[in-house]
Parts: sequence; structure tokens; C-alpha cells
Amino acid sequence: MKGLNIYSKKQYFRVILLISMLLFIIYVFYSYYYPFAILQFKTTHTKEQTCGELSSAGSSKGFWTIKSDGRLGNQMGEYATLYALAKLNGKQAYILQSMANYLSPIFRINLPTLDESVSENIHWIHYHLNDWMEDAYCHISGDYVKLTGYPCSWTFYHHIRKQILYEFTFHDYLIEHANMFLRSISKGQANVTYVAVHVRRGDYVEVMPEVWKGVVADKVYLEKAMSYFRKKYSNVVFVVTSEEMDWCKDNIDASKGDVHFSGDGQSSSPARDFSLLAHCNHTIMTIGTFGIWAAYLAGGETIYLSNYTLPDSPFLKVFKYEAAFLPEWIGIPADLSPVLTKKDLNTILK
Ligand SMILES: *[C@@H]1O[C@H](CO)[C@@H](O)[C@H](O)[C@H]1NC(C)=O
Ligand SMILES: *[C@@H]1O[C@H](CO)[C@@H](O)[C@H](O)[C@H]1NC(C)=O
Ligand SMILES: *[C@@H]1O[C@H](CO)[C@@H](O)[C@H](O)[C@H]1NC(C)=O
Repeated sequence: MKGLNIYSKKQYFRVILLISMLLFIIYVFYSYYYPFAILQFKTTHTKEQTCGELSSAGSSKGFWTIKSDGRLGNQMGEYATLYALAKLNGKQAYILQSMANYLSPIFRINLPTLDESVSENIHWIHYHLNDWMEDAYCHISGDYVKLTGYPCSWTFYHHIRKQILYEFTFHDYLIEHANMFLRSISKGQANVTYVAVHVRRGDYVEVMPEVWKGVVADKVYLEKAMSYFRKKYSNVVFVVTSEEMDWCKDNIDASKGDVHFSGDGQSSSPARDFSLLAHCNHTIMTIGTFGIWAAYLAGGETIYLSNYTLPDSPFLKVFKYEAAFLPEWIGIPADLSPVLTKKDLNTILK
């Protein structure tokens, strides 16, 4: 019995020694390759930091890209999401030619463009994204990934908003156009507060009630939003752009002399309208990604139409209000009565 005891004691020390040596080697190895990882983990606990640590282990070979879908607002959402997720996963992002065609005449974007002859010959792994950030998106594997979906949510990229805003720096001709226009409507007054008003209508006027059980912004919403700014600032000028200027002229009261209808209504060439909105100090948006991006770039106070769908709308399966609109933005709930049926009304009254 005694012999066995000594034997097991020796064995015990050997194991302890081995473990200590292993731990030491791991520690040396780890601190060599990730000198700041431990520090980062201790000082911050945000999602992007945790993602950031892991990303340094990812390989930078391969190509990541995103499907180029929709018009300007969607293209911007896709660009920013690709930029942020590639960064989190330690991959090099490239945009497709069709996205470059959309964005590069307007912004000084920096992501390289993948030549079509190359992108056509890559066997892409398609990865679908919801319109909000998820933990799984920190660990997307694959060297040839094409992201898909219609992502346009600050939850993907707000932690690197400075870089995103830098990517969406306007070309000089658009800055000059916007400044010239704003000066021309200031009537020589020095301290004007410019409020952008973007009224999205077009196809949404029918799609919202028919497909999504929802509404678009109405006259009352715009009045409430404008009165907020009239009360808060002394020298307010509203700059209205829309693809339906006639509707705006009929429904926005311009009798106070502080409203300028300025969009040329050409949704096919939206650069000037967009730049004008983004150069204002504050934003009144209605719905849609064009307005969301104008507000994000303008960076001031933003009023948006909220709760514009019925509770059982299929829209809510692909869209989250809290992921689309920044927490500090001010929501005004929509009047849903145009899409409420008698049955809905009865349920509410019960
Ligand atoms: C200009 O307007 C802003 C916002 O209304 C106000 O905060 C600021 O004090 C004004 N400055 C001058 C010089 O009047
Ligand atoms: C408001 O916007 C104008 C035009 O872009 C700008 O010149 C001015 O500095 C802005 N005012 C404030 C208070 O940010
Ligand atoms: C929208 O509806 C939700 C749920 O009823 C509510 O919690 C939220 O405050 C509403 N938002 C606004 C801006 O009215």
C-alpha cells in the first residue's frame, strides 16, 4: 500500500508539472499572437469588440461581396452591411459592378470593385441576412461569400459609423449644389435651421395597404412633425423632396413661407435630392431606406413615422422598427384607420 502511495504521488506531481508547462506554453503563444485581446475583453463587453477579437483569427484570403439589389437607399444599406460584416469576420470586401455604378458617381467609396469576369467565375456561398444584426453574423465562414437580403439596419454598422459616414462622403459637385441651394433659400439670414422633409410615396402608396397591411405618411403626420421643429427652432426652413411633388404641394401647408419644394422628382437620378436632404440640419422622414440614410448622414434630430403596420402584418417578419430607426430618433405613430377593417375595429373596441 505504501509503495503505491509514493507511486501515485509521483504521478500526481508529474501531471501537475505537465499541466503547468502546457498552460505556460499556451499563455506565451496566446499573448504573442493576441497581445491586446485580454485587455479588450476586460475593458469592454460590447458585441463588436467580441466580434473584433475573433476576427483577427480569420484569414484575409478570398472575396466577400453582397448582392446589389434595389435603389439608392438599399444599395447604401447593402454596402454598409458588407463593409461592417467583412470587417467583423476579418475578410476583404469587394463590391459588384452594379453597386459601384450606383454609388461611385455620388460618394467617394473606398471598397474595391470586383470585375465581372472574375465575379461570374467564382463559386459563391450565398449567405442570407435578416434586416437586423445577429450573433451568428460574427462567425460567417467561407472565403467566397456573397451576402444576400435587403439589410438596412444601423445594428450592423453603427459601432463604426465614422467609417461608414466617411465612405458616404459626397463628391464636390453635390456638396456645392446643396450648399448653393440652401444659401439661396436662406434669404440672407445667418442662423437658419434647415429641416429636410422626405416624402416617400410612389409604389408604396399601393404596396403598403395591399401587401403589408400598413399605411404611408399622411398630411396629419407631416403637420405634427413640422410643428415640432417650428416650436423648437426660431428660424426654420423646410426643404421638401418627394417623387410626388404634386401630392406634397396639395398636402403640405406652405402659407407660412417657410416651406420649399425642391426635389426635381426624378427618382431615377436621386443624387441631388439625396445630397440636399443630407446637408440639412434635421430630418423628417416618412418611410423607406432613402429617408433613413438621408437622416443618418444629416445626423441631427430625426422624426419618423412609426407603427405604420397592423400587428399581424407580414412586414413584421422581415422588418423590426427598433432595428431600422435609431433609439434617439423620434417616432410618431401612424394613423392606421385606413387599413383597419370592421373586424379589427371590433377587436379593438372589445
Ligand atoms: C443659432 O440657432 C441655434 C439653433 O436654433 C441656436 O442654438 C444658436 O444659439 C443660434 N446662434 C445664434 C448666434 O443665434
Ligand atoms: C445647418 O446646416 C447648414 C447647411 O449644411 C450648415 O452650414 C450649418 O452649419 C448647420 N448648422 C448647425 C447648427 O449645425
Ligand atoms: C409602437 O407600438 C409599440 C407596441 O404597441 C409601442 O410599445 C411603441 O411605443 C409604439 N411606438 C410609438 C413611437 O408610438
